[in-house]
Amino acid sequence: TYVIAQPCVDLKDKACVDECPVDCIYEGPRKLYINPDECVDCGACEPVCPVEAIFYEDSLPEEWAGYLTAERDVFAGTGAPGGASAAGPPAEDHPIVGKEPVEAV
Ligand code: F3S
Ligand code: F3S
Repeated sequence: TYVIAQPCVDLKDKACVDECPVDCIYEGPRKLYINPDECVDCGACEPVCPVEAIFYEDSLPEEWAGYLTAERDVFAGTGAPGGASAAGPPAEDHPIVGKEPVEAV
């Protein structure tokens, strides 16, 4: 699967959402999440993120390793709901996001 890491937090550019052919990128309050059960590893999202927040799981920088776990955790209760447009967003961010400082915009 691909993973959205820390640079997305509080930025949420969402260019990635339009690229995904299976609509598996879900918007949380401070970050977007790729559903690992639905991502087909097409890789279309990765180059369009302006802050390079998206990584293939094996290429995820060590400092952001927790974001792979976070994406799994966020969808642990829902499995594959069948697309972000239909299912709506996760109501809450994963706790790892709460540890990131809130940046003034
Ligand atoms: Fe976030 Fe980049 Fe997508 S900032 S919303 S991962 S385009
Ligand atoms: Fe979609 Fe990116 Fe996976 S475009 S299918 S989330 S690699």
